[in-house]
Amino acid sequence: MKKVYLETFGCQMNVSDSERVATTLAKKGFEMTLREDQADVVLINTCSVREKAEQKLYTQVGRIRHSGRPKPVVGVLGCVAQLEGETLFKKIEGIDLVVGTKAVGRISDVIQRVLDGEEGIVDLGEREKDYDWNVSDAQRHSPYVAFVPIIEGCNKFCTYCIVPFSRGREVSLPASEIIRSVLEMRRSGVKEIHLIGQNVNSYRPESDSGLEGFEGATPFSRLLRAVSATGIERIKFNTSFPRDFKADIVDAINEHENLCNWVHLPVQSGSDRVLGLMKRGHTSESYKKKIDYLRSSPRDISITTDIIVGFPGETGEDFKRTVELVEYAGYDAAYIFKYSPRPGTPAYSMDDDVSPEEKTDRFLELETAQRKSQNERLKRYIGKDLEVLVEKQAVRMEMQVSGHSTCHKVVNFNGPAELIGSIEKVRITEVKSNSLFGELCNDSKAAMQLC
Ligand code: 5AD
Ligand code: SF4
Repeated sequence: MKKVYLETFGCQMNVSDSERVATTLAKKGFEMTLREDQADVVLINTCSVREKAEQKLYTQVGRIRHSGRPKPVVGVLGCVAQLEGETLFKKIEGIDLVVGTKAVGRISDVIQRVLDGEEGIVDLGEREKDYDWNVSDAQRHSPYVAFVPIIEGCNKFCTYCIVPFSRGREVSLPASEIIRSVLEMRRSGVKEIHLIGQNVNSYRPESDSGLEGFEGATPFSRLLRAVSATGIERIKFNTSFPRDFKADIVDAINEHENLCNWVHLPVQSGSDRVLGLMKRGHTSESYKKKIDYLRSSPRDISITTDIIVGFPGETGEDFKRTVELVEYAGYDAAYIFKYSPRPGTPAYSMDDDVSPEEKTDRFLELETAQRKSQNERLKRYIGKDLEVLVEKQAVRMEMQVSGHSTCHKVVNFNGPAELIGSIEKVRITEVKSNSLFGELCNDSKAAMQLC
């Protein structure tokens, strides 16, 4: 039995693709291993969203080649594979196969052909009509949390972004399939599902099958209500695209307890001029209106975002608008990135005129502003009881367990490993830089069993 080691970089869609790759390979008689040094085949599922992410592929293959043991079969999957195709063989020595973002369903055949002696195999083809989106329980990153792709690709073409090129145009999965797989997951013990896609709220399936009878102005909010009706304990979704983010999504959250109170709404910049150059399709005012509507919800919805600093042409004044927006929005978390020019994107031909030093300065200044605002915002959780899905033992702290709240904060608390897999009520006592700390509530079921 050949052993396969699979390393994944990048977004949740990549993690989800990798889970299906592992499912397929296990079905076809390969053994998945966590030990790269013992693997006959090493697969690297790559990300190309920023140069740093792409660089990881080069480092990884170099390390394998110089490890001193007979070289395993090395395969490149994912976004870098899709974009580079067969040029990767010339660029990086030691690669045996290249499989694009939609060809992952054929991975076992490709590996077999390499094992049979074929060289330089590239498959950048389309998904099979009968592509199996299911992930076996054994290959999921967690027994309790599952990713459910609902839309893949992107039609937005923000000028800095490589995704529309690496993952193609938006394709929505049939609602009836999504609902069927959520029901199956519920039966097998999954507590929380994440509906995932580059822009989940642009969801537009070809037919309404599965959505009939569910109210809402957009197919996405109707899908949310339909998934809610499966009775699964928690539903999260990301990422949301501001222009397509309509009030009916918030209304659905307000009306269905199992739709979690967390929205990831990337703003990218607070300057209308830069937003225009990015072709985002929203302004700071239109974005703020969505924030206001989210804030009016009785559910205390946690809002998180992505921001790029140092986009071509971004002036000190533009950057100030971003700092102001961060202060206005009061994010529970923000992921800040320095602009990284990606070959093939429209912004690549713009003058990357913000110096690396200036990008670093803006990054640090924005990080400080966000940290300050975040610390203030997170204080509202102190003394509150949050429902935490306990997922694992805390790193380095034997007596502690760790999980996520419905508002998607990491929460750590003292408790035994037996709690893993259950949802517990935890009273928050402390705000840390990227997590919350609390204690098991006395009236929680687990606390009663413990004493
Ligand atoms: N440079 C820097 N950050 C980028 N992102 C996407 N493309 C780039 C780029 N070229 C960021 C955006 C996006 C997140 C996933 O990655 O903020 O929301
Ligand atoms: Fe990239 Fe914009 Fe599409 Fe997001 S919406 S994946 S940033 S092009």
